[in-house]
Amino acid sequence: MKIAVAGAGYVGLVTGVVFADLGNEVICVDIDPARVDAINKGQSPIYEPGLDELLTRNLEEGRLSATTDLAHAVRESEVIFICVGTPPSETGEPDLRYVDEAAATIGRALNGYKIIVNKSTVPVGTGDRVRRIIEQHRTEPHDFDVVSNPEFLREGSAVHDTLNPDRIVIGADNPRAAMKIVELYAPLERPMLITNLATAEVIKYASNTFLALKISFINAIADLCERTGADVVQVAKAMGYDQRIGHAFLQAGLGFGGSCFPKDVLAFARTVQRYNLDPTLFEQILVINDARPVQFINRIRERLGGLQGRTIGLLGLSFKPNTDDIREARSLEVIRLLLTEGAVVKAYDPVAMPRVQAIYPQVHYCRNAYEVAENADALALITEWNEFRQLNFERIKSLMREPNLFDGRNLYDPQRMRKMGFYYYGVGRAADNGGFGTLL
Ligand code: UDX
Ligand code: UDX
Repeated sequence: MKIAVAGAGYVGLVTGVVFADLGNEVICVDIDPARVDAINKGQSPIYEPGLDELLTRNLEEGRLSATTDLAHAVRESEVIFICVGTPPSETGEPDLRYVDEAAATIGRALNGYKIIVNKSTVPVGTGDRVRRIIEQHRTEPHDFDVVSNPEFLREGSAVHDTLNPDRIVIGADNPRAAMKIVELYAPLERPMLITNLATAEVIKYASNTFLALKISFINAIADLCERTGADVVQVAKAMGYDQRIGHAFLQAGLGFGGSCFPKDVLAFARTVQRYNLDPTLFEQILVINDARPVQFINRIRERLGGLQGRTIGLLGLSFKPNTDDIREARSLEVIRLLLTEGAVVKAYDPVAMPRVQAIYPQVHYCRNAYEVAENADALALITEWNEFRQLNFERIKSLMREPNLFDGRNLYDPQRMRKMGFYYYGVGRAADNGGFGTLL
C-alpha cells in the first residue's frame, strides 16, 4: 500500500518506518527540513531502541522516503496518516492548528479516493472536523473517508509497541475504509476493534486517563502508607495480584511526566466540561501528580534541615528510562524547586543531559553516578534507568558528604540500603519494618 505520514515525530516516524518494514511504500512528511534531511540520511532524529536499524534498512530498500511536501505525498498515496503534534492550548484542550493545516493541504491535493487516518491525540469530534476541512478545501470532487486509529505506543519501546500492540482500534463511519486499514494491520496479527469515529476518539483518552488514574491512585495510597507505617510497594503488589486490578501502572513515586499523560488528562477534563459534565475525578489525577515533586523535596529539606547551600545529586533526568525526552519530566520540577531554595544541583542522565542543560545551565552535569555522589549531601533517584540498579553503593557512600538516599522511584531495597548505612527514603515506604513483610 502507498502511505503518507504527516508529522515525523515520535508517533509519525515510528509508524511510518514500521509500515515500510511491513512492505508498504511510505513517504514521511514533516515541516522541519532538518528532520526530513536527517531521515533521508538514515539518521533518526529521535532516540528509540531499534529505530535506526529499521530506518536504514527501509531507506536502502527504497520503501521509505521523507519530504517537506505534504501535497506531493498525498497525491502519491492511498492512505494518509495525520501524526502532527497537538500541543495543549491555553484552555488545556489540544491546539488543533497543525491538524487543521494538514487537513486543508490534504483537501487541496486530493486527486482520487483516499483514506485519511488520524493518529494524533485529538478530542472527540475531531474526525468530523477533519472531514469538514477536507470538504471545504478540495478542488476536485473526489471521495474520501476519515478514520480514527489512536496510537498507544510508549516512548522508549515505541518500535516494539507498534509491532506488538495490545489492540488496534479502528474508528470509521464507513466499513470500506475500516477494512482497508484492517488489511494494513493484518500482518501484525493483533486483536482489532472496529468502532465508529467518536468511539475510537474516546477510547484513546479514556485509556490514557485511566492509566494516569492508576498512578495517582497509588501515589495517594503512598501518602497514607507514609503516615501509618505501611509499605506502598507491598500494597501495590498485593493489589496487583487481583486480576481485576493488575500490576501495571501501580508504581508509586514522583508521578507521571511525558508528552501524553499530563496533557491528555487535562484535555479530557476540559472535553468533559465542554459537554457540561463534572471533570472533578479527572482533575484530581493532576492535582495529586503535581504535588509529588513538592512532597519529595519536603522530605529532603526535613532531613537536611534546609536546602540553602546543600548539594543534591540527581540520578536520571528523562521523564522515564530509555528515552531522551524531557517533556514534563519530574526532574525539571525537582530542579526548579531545589534551585529556588538555594541548593547546589548535580545531575547525571545517560542521554537526556543536553536537553536539560538548555533549560538549566546552572546545574552541574556529571559523567556518571559516582561523580554525582561526590560531596553530595543527598542523592535522589529521579528516573529508574537500568544502569542505576546495580551501583556500587559502598563507593557511593564513601564519596558522599552525608549518605542520604532519596528514592523517587522505589528502585532500591530499603533494608539493604539502611543496612549499608544510608539514610533511605522511598516514596510511601518510610516504615522500617525490620525485615518483616519481605516480597518473595
Ligand atoms: C504524538 C501525537 O501526534 C500527538 O497528537 C500526541 O498528543 C503526542 O504524540 P509526537 O509524535 O510525540 O505527537 O509529537 P512530535 O514528536 O512533536 O512530532 C510532531 C511532528 O509533526 C514534528 O516532527 C513536527 O515538526 C511535525 N509537524 C508539526 C508537521 O510536520 N507539520 C505541522 O504542521 C506541525
Ligand atoms: C503513555 C502511554 O503509556 C501510551 O499508551 C500512550 O500512547 C502515550 O502515553 P509514555 O508517556 O511514553 O506512554 O510512557 P509511560 O511508560 O506510560 O509512562 C508515563 C509516565 O508515567 C512516566 O513518567 C512514568 O515514570 C510514569 N509512571 C508509569 C509511574 O509513575 N508509575 C507507573 O506505575 C507507570
